[in-house]
Amino acid sequence: MAKINSHFSKLCSNYLFPEIQKRVASFKEAADPSLSFLNLGIGDVSKPIAPPIAEAIAVAAEKMSQKESIRGYGPENGYAFLRQAIFEDTYSNLDLSADEIFISDGSKCDTANILDIFSQDNVVAIADPSYPVYVDSTVMSGRSGHANQQGQYEGIVYLPCTKESNFLALPPSRHCDLIYLCSPNNPTGTAFSRKQLESWVSYAHEHQAIIFFDTAYRSFITDQTLPKSIFEIPGAHEVAIEFHSFSKSAGFTGLRCAYTVISKRLMALDSQKKQSIWKLWKRRQSSKFGGLSYITQCAAKASLSKKARQYIKEDIQNYMQGCQRLKKALEDLNYTCYGGINAPYLWCETPQDMSSWDFFDLLLQRVQLITVPGRGFGPAGEGYVRLSAFATEKTIDEAISRLMQLHVVSPSICC
Ligand code: MLT
Repeated sequence: MAKINSHFSKLCSNYLFPEIQKRVASFKEAADPSLSFLNLGIGDVSKPIAPPIAEAIAVAAEKMSQKESIRGYGPENGYAFLRQAIFEDTYSNLDLSADEIFISDGSKCDTANILDIFSQDNVVAIADPSYPVYVDSTVMSGRSGHANQQGQYEGIVYLPCTKESNFLALPPSRHCDLIYLCSPNNPTGTAFSRKQLESWVSYAHEHQAIIFFDTAYRSFITDQTLPKSIFEIPGAHEVAIEFHSFSKSAGFTGLRCAYTVISKRLMALDSQKKQSIWKLWKRRQSSKFGGLSYITQCAAKASLSKKARQYIKEDIQNYMQGCQRLKKALEDLNYTCYGGINAPYLWCETPQDMSSWDFFDLLLQRVQLITVPGRGFGPAGEGYVRLSAFATEKTIDEAISRLMQLHVVSPSICC
């Protein structure tokens, strides 16, 4: 009989977001059908794509329907028109070229697939808590070892993001080879300063390590002193790979488009010889990725236009205003909340001694508010829930009013 990849049996049973959906569905099944649910759980956009993006989609579809402008297979790394637009938008002052940008259908897949090109012997370090894809794909790739009773994998180096470190990962005292970082960090909503990022780049040089730097939320940074790309840091080109997605920055969760930036200067060892990571990723993508649709790439290019940017800017401001309102309401109810300034996520302490899953259940059952239990993002997420502000104004207002109501009815829920 065929055998499975045994590393899959080391995973916890469900991916975090389907697990939440399952618990919500099972509660709904038994609940009063008139109840309405408010989703501040998964970070999925609630605003439509900007009109210039929709127009670009229609034009691209029309082109594909004409025999003189049909498009078949595109380049695996993306059309030059999109790579050039991204380069001009973000990387032209950062000592990179359009050729060092690889288009894909999501940072979720890119941050998981990147492990393909690295040896099994590498020690993987991951911020804790973090986007669950990093841990899950490290487990699937056979680099994690087994989980202990606390659900922590013995082969992964967890980099605790605690109150003391502003919920960001700091360089460890031990050696690591591959390091997953996200800034602004999902789920804690806090972002690295230039100095902190410099300390990571020097750690990576000292240890000949590579940083996987996820910038999915960088469009939400309001503090203009914070770096938006790791390539703003001198020396990063030799030690970092950057990931960015249009999902959150241009509302592409349903359209799918992202990219990975790898400098041609980035090298890693193959026995005693140095190999170009840029070449290996290009090789990997040409075999395993069929390229992103022409239509979606036209949409992504349109999202970088001046006209679309105006709409997107308004959407982002709107999400962030909702985030501020929610944060203030929670603080007025004596909750301690972090994040929400440079990312649309609030990292909220659970009430006295309540576990993150228990508080998730309480909010779901008592006020039908869907959040994400911090524990789902890693062991250091225990004691917190994440609230997403990717919601409409109406949802945020209703969430605030239900939370206030909950505290009137149950003043004993004490923070
Ligand atoms: C999240 O809610 O953490 C993310 O939006 C989920 C995702 O990007 O897959």
